[in-house]
Amino acid sequence: MKYNYCGNSGLLLPQISLGMWQNFGDADNIQVAREMILHAFENGVTHFDLANNYGIPRGSAESNFGRILNKELKDHRDELIITSKAGHLMWDGPYGDGSSRKYIMASINQSLKRTGLEYFDVFYSHRYNPETPLEETAQALIDIVKQGKALYIGLSKYPADKAEQMYRMMAEQHVKCVVYQDRYNMINRKVENAHVALNQKSGVGFVSFSPLAQGVLTDRYLHGIPKDSRVGRASNFLTKEDITPSLMASIEELNVIAVQRGQSLAQMALAWQLSKDYVTSVIIGASSVRQLQDNLDSIHNTSFAEEEALQIDQILDKHLIRE
Ligand SMILES: NC(=O)c1ccc[n+]([C@@H]2O[C@H](COP(=O)([O-])OP(=O)(O)OC[C@H]3O[C@@H](n4cnc5c(N)ncnc54)[C@H](OP(=O)(O)O)[C@@H]3O)[C@@H](O)[C@H]2O)c1
Repeated sequence: MKYNYCGNSGLLLPQISLGMWQNFGDADNIQVAREMILHAFENGVTHFDLANNYGIPRGSAESNFGRILNKELKDHRDELIITSKAGHLMWDGPYGDGSSRKYIMASINQSLKRTGLEYFDVFYSHRYNPETPLEETAQALIDIVKQGKALYIGLSKYPADKAEQMYRMMAEQHVKCVVYQDRYNMINRKVENAHVALNQKSGVGFVSFSPLAQGVLTDRYLHGIPKDSRVGRASNFLTKEDITPSLMASIEELNVIAVQRGQSLAQMALAWQLSKDYVTSVIIGASSVRQLQDNLDSIHNTSFAEEEALQIDQILDKHLIRE
């Protein structure tokens, strides 16, 4: 595993991180979740990504991770980067969503309690909320660091101009935003418009999520929709309407290139990102140790011939999301 500096900060993140949005809640197989966490750590994955609302019911991914950590990885706390976020709906009433100071402060206290941690390594504002002044959110995040509840601050899913204003406000108070997190994969390239350049200019690291487009950029749906897949489990986030014949025909073509490279399609999709110097870390999801190991092996071949990269772009051309 290679570790990259996160922007201009001294924080090193592994090329591949493990996210706990899906498959780590009470509705999931907790034994598999435990094995994935331990397998990841044994293989150099030091960065685990959480949010207050992860898991069904909300918060259960934090509770489960906390239990496993406290039982089996307690002595390794200083070898781990554990992140959480607040910004999506978490509890009923006017204070359980958004990015107000009230919500962020209450939420981090709840997340610390659920995980049993004394502090998070990075705490994120999970998404931009136009209803709250940026100054209020920035100040809440700065105060969290000053209170010792998180070591670093991050932002996720902010329009580039709003992220830039946040970076400036935080830097003025000498609590820099160190990391920006957003969706990025071979199909969804929106961050290439402005975020990549902004982060590079601002010395902020970039961490990508859903690098496999939730499983689309793998062999998962090549022969139909498996019952135990994200689509098969009737997720709200990836549905059978997303798995179109036209998209699957292109995925078949991509798979041919992956085979020629001696990789699984998932490995090629991850390698495509790992080849880019502006990507600090990719946060993968997995539903089994086998998938996790498959993904970890992507680090062995991360270079692309110019022709391969062009072919990938041509195959995906009609599916690309750029705006
Ligand atoms: N900041 C944000 O707003 C935000 C939003 C979304 C995600 N995230 C973060 O990013 C993390 C990853 O998101 P994601 O789960 O969407 O990532 P992803 O890596 O794009 O998708 C993971 C899914 O792909 C399938 N898969 C993984 N490896 C595979 C392999 N080798 N072969 C075949 N299928 C494979 C599995 O689906 P099956 O379940 O079908 O097996 C797995 O659950 C989250 O856990 C979270 O930490 C952040």
